[in-house]
Amino acid sequence: MDTRIDRLQRLCVTKPGVLSLAGGLPAAETFPLSSLARALGSAGRDALQYDWPEGRQALRTFVAERLQRRGAKVDADEVLITSGAQQALDIAVQLCGRDGQAIRVPAACYPGALELFTARGIELVAETAPAELTYTMPLVANPSGLPLPLRARAALLADPGMLIEDDAYADLRFDGRTPPPLLASAPERVFYVGTFSKTLCPGLRVGWLVVPKRARRSARYAKRVIDLQANTLAQRVLEGYLASEDFDERLTWLRSFYARRADMLVSALRRLLPSFSFREPEGGFSIWATSEEGGDDVELLATALRHGVTVDPGRDFRPSGESEPIALRLAFSSIQPGAVFEAVGRLARAFHAFVHARRRSEPSARQEARVSER
Ligand SMILES: Cc1ncc(COP(=O)(O)O)c(C=O)c1O
Repeated sequence: MDTRIDRLQRLCVTKPGVLSLAGGLPAAETFPLSSLARALGSAGRDALQYDWPEGRQALRTFVAERLQRRGAKVDADEVLITSGAQQALDIAVQLCGRDGQAIRVPAACYPGALELFTARGIELVAETAPAELTYTMPLVANPSGLPLPLRARAALLADPGMLIEDDAYADLRFDGRTPPPLLASAPERVFYVGTFSKTLCPGLRVGWLVVPKRARRSARYAKRVIDLQANTLAQRVLEGYLASEDFDERLTWLRSFYARRADMLVSALRRLLPSFSFREPEGGFSIWATSEEGGDDVELLATALRHGVTVDPGRDFRPSGESEPIALRLAFSSIQPGAVFEAVGRLARAFHAFVHARRRSEPSARQEARVSER
């Protein structure tokens, strides 16, 4: 992440009254506090003990069974419980990427993946470039909330390369459809990533990685080397929670909860910020909105903050890190519905001020350039 963005976003947390369309966090009011507290209360001493690197059997079985319901032949033994999806991505890239190798990533991509791949020495290339490794979010992408087009999905399956399939938002498609993952069609070359962060709560840091059979040992070894195992207490609490609650019922409720929030943001954008284009999200937590304007999106963020609203600038989501044309990730997940129109109104005023300031400074910038050329 651009350090200026980090600084501005930290600053905004300390400013009272700032409305946030940033972050893409799950809504804290959906966290099942009392059920998790009950599960914690009934966890015995073993919840505080070391455990195996692959994670607790009950959780691995839960993940495998859900994937089997979606048509993937997954055995609990192929599931590795990780410290969130982020660590699952890291282990996947360690197992199937080499230093200096290229990875195809979407044009608008989850920044945590971009940062991770770069940190691990993997080169980011466009979705259409030739490469032996691809990162994809086929069902619900962050930031767009959209699925991969059918043709692109078919092309990925026809390509012989390795795939990292990030299904972090799979259970949060608003229409509840959960078609087979890519894993179901190409189990020998898909590293499949999932998480409880979006459907329960990210604080427990529990996710999973399904690896091809031949990589099972190396995956467990990698997990052991990194941190021995995922947090036993968090796994045990989840296990207790899942044994006593109806998770599918929760998902049905969550989907309509987030769909209503998405509708609200869509209406506000159409009414108050018509100069931005976007496609209505089909799931997830956010909208990817693009404009035809140029300029520095960090400057736009600073202007937005002065107007009392915060957003995620598009550069963080682009493999190139480019700011232009201006794009924003706008999250509907954690803002109160009653504040959405106010937040978008503030953003519209900020964007207007940003464009106006840029137009005013442009002629003088051109003049300065001419003078220095002479
Ligand atoms: C697409 C995607 N993958 C992975 C992650 C990481 O999730 P976790 O909290 O489980 O590490 C996120 C978090 O925002 C995400 O959006």
